[in-house]
Amino acid sequence: MDNLDQIVSEAQAAFAAISDPDALEQAKARFLGKSGQITELLKGLGKLPPEEKKTAGAAINVAKAAVEAALNARREAIRKAALEARLAEEALDVTLPGRSEARGGLHPVTRTLERIESLFASIGFEVADGPEIEEDFFNFTALNTPEDHPARSMHDTFYLQNPDGSLADKVLLRTHTSPIQARYMQAHVARYGQLEKMPEIRIIAPGRVYRVDSDATHSPMFHQVEGLWVGEGVSFADLKGVIADFLKSFFETDDLTVRFRPSFFPFTEPSAEIDVAFMSGALKGRWLEIAGCGMVHPNVLKIAGIDPEKYTGFAFGFGPDRLTMLRYGVNDLRLFFEGDLRFLRQFA
Ligand code: DAH
Repeated sequence: MDNLDQIVSEAQAAFAAISDPDALEQAKARFLGKSGQITELLKGLGKLPPEEKKTAGAAINVAKAAVEAALNARREAIRKAALEARLAEEALDVTLPGRSEARGGLHPVTRTLERIESLFASIGFEVADGPEIEEDFFNFTALNTPEDHPARSMHDTFYLQNPDGSLADKVLLRTHTSPIQARYMQAHVARYGQLEKMPEIRIIAPGRVYRVDSDATHSPMFHQVEGLWVGEGVSFADLKGVIADFLKSFFETDDLTVRFRPSFFPFTEPSAEIDVAFMSGALKGRWLEIAGCGMVHPNVLKIAGIDPEKYTGFAFGFGPDRLTMLRYGVNDLRLFFEGDLRFLRQFA
């Protein structure tokens, strides 16, 4: 039967041209479905005379088997091709170099702050904190800085605006970390004020501060570390000892001199500027100003609720940015805040 061979080769050609599994099943229906060509032939067998039925039936079944074989082969080929495509797509090149995790590092100023914290912790100082948006009261008033003091001027202080554009009355970006002194003393008195003998206050308070100022050695945002020690019989001699020890530890050398130069701050009396000079190295012999300090003003103690007749204290304020510049030999403060990785990586 020529017709049968033709059907078989037609089916083979049709299947071979298909690479989509759904299309293949549809093509199958044309030959083997309910009214497919092979099925129709089988249905027609009934009409044949009995003697022809047997041979015709056998021949149709051979053709049917051939169509089924072609179909199955094609099914298998399509499945294999799909698998291979997927494998190729998901292939891993295990010879590619690995993607390593980027290593972070501490900012040089953070290193200095951590160093200062641990050096002061070793002589019993706790770390205290305060808000960067500060109340006028703590930033100035509680620190014995009267209403008309120049430190309040619009020149060097960032005041804040209300949503309607008017000047916010009692808040500003803190201009120093000294308000943390006032806050801490107030909280300390609230806690221990009734005791016969108030426990000593020994804190350092690192943080960001803000002033309208910008050049190679000034940035509108910079850091300070406040220090405060209040107790019975705390003296200027203690202040000198603590500072000199700290500086020698911080710079890892005994080869430096510390000088206390009389100065003025509203919140200390007497007040001094602390200068340091290295006796060797690149900065040899130059006096460098690094901190303000003094004995806590009796008014400041009083405002916090501490009896200045009974307790005394000293305070100081360092510029850790400056200390970092000296320690690492950096000559422009702005480098610290530009976020240039070429600079920062040198400290990681
Ligand atoms: N707050 C001062 C400033 O920003 C620095 C300072 C000076 C802090 C003397 C002190 C101090 O605690 O006793 O210039």
